[in-house]
Amino acid sequence: MKIKPFGVEIWMNQYETQCVYNLAETCVESLTVAQLLEIAGKHNVILDELLPLKLTYGAIEGTERLRGNVAALYTRQTAENVTITHGAIGANALVYATLVEPGDRVVSIVPTYQQHYSIPESYGADLQIHKLREENGFLPDLDEIKRLVTPNTKLIAVNNPNNPTGSLMDRAMMQRIADMAASCGAYVLCDEVYRGVDQEGEALTVSMADLYERGISTGSMSKAFSLAGLRLGWIVGHKDLIHAVSIHRDYNTISVGMLDDHFAAIALEHRDAILARNRAIVRTNLAILDRWVAGEPAISYVKPKAGTIALLKYDFDMPSREFCIRLLEAEGVMFTPGSALDMEGYVRIGYANNRAVLEEGLARVSRFLKTLSAQSHPARAKA
Ligand SMILES: Cc1ncc(COP(=O)(O)O)c(C=O)c1O
Repeated sequence: MKIKPFGVEIWMNQYETQCVYNLAETCVESLTVAQLLEIAGKHNVILDELLPLKLTYGAIEGTERLRGNVAALYTRQTAENVTITHGAIGANALVYATLVEPGDRVVSIVPTYQQHYSIPESYGADLQIHKLREENGFLPDLDEIKRLVTPNTKLIAVNNPNNPTGSLMDRAMMQRIADMAASCGAYVLCDEVYRGVDQEGEALTVSMADLYERGISTGSMSKAFSLAGLRLGWIVGHKDLIHAVSIHRDYNTISVGMLDDHFAAIALEHRDAILARNRAIVRTNLAILDRWVAGEPAISYVKPKAGTIALLKYDFDMPSREFCIRLLEAEGVMFTPGSALDMEGYVRIGYANNRAVLEEGLARVSRFLKTLSAQSHPARAKA
């Protein structure tokens, strides 16, 4: 079966190990095992917990303990509404495999994580794309989405907070999308991997699974919880949906690793501490990025409301891939080119990694921009 290559993942695989200043990273600075145990106060007891574990397949759909902890991130869910997956990437893939058949209408957005349009397209779905626009703060135009939602629509796919723009739909907007889906019995898949690290407030924002019977939320330990190394995610939805997913899941997952399940449960039991750490990081670092953008005449952006990433627009007549490769070669700084996200003319920055890396990386980008300006506007540069 043919599928379009995954732009961002190919870019990351190719360059991530070659850069010095990784401003393409989308996780809030990852935790070490020691830091996680420190937060959880488990340094002295962890071996007692792990050593007796017999390494079987473990609980097939995830332990009751972990699924309960995941359910607690939502307002209307219990463990039976949760299945554990290989990251959110596994969660999303399973939802599409379960629900989408050739000819089904799937309405998705761009930009977003590419799974949400390339997978349904590869299944022969009647894929309809709504392009998010800068003038709307990269929020969906609901009237446009409504025009795309026809009676045979199977699924509407959204991503909140959005990758790569950091835009955040509020409850009213999420509810309107749910209502549109309800009018034709469609599902709404909301990829919520960046939920939990907003620029304002301490509470978790509303989740699609809590709003709508056919709402499906996917999430993971990777971004807001800084534990991508666990490769652990989940699907939350109605128990009939979870049952339908489990039929596919048996063919490609069996279970996730027992150690991953265990560490994820520990982390979620200390979620308030992890999210407080991570909100402080994203807020401090976005303030640094915001000051930098304000001081760079060739760079503009829609300031993110949530998540770990932003889309920067650059004022040079140059393909984004060339921009990123030249930046990497000159300064060792890695962004993600907009071309890998179907957003030519932009680059994506991940600003939630280590603060010193962000500061030094941005200083080097400034130097690179100066050189570019001197080359493309020599008169202006001299003045
Ligand atoms: C929106 C979105 N969904 C899913 C994923 C996959 O995340 P995970 O590490 O949980 O598989 C990513 C990773 O970049 C993402 O940005």
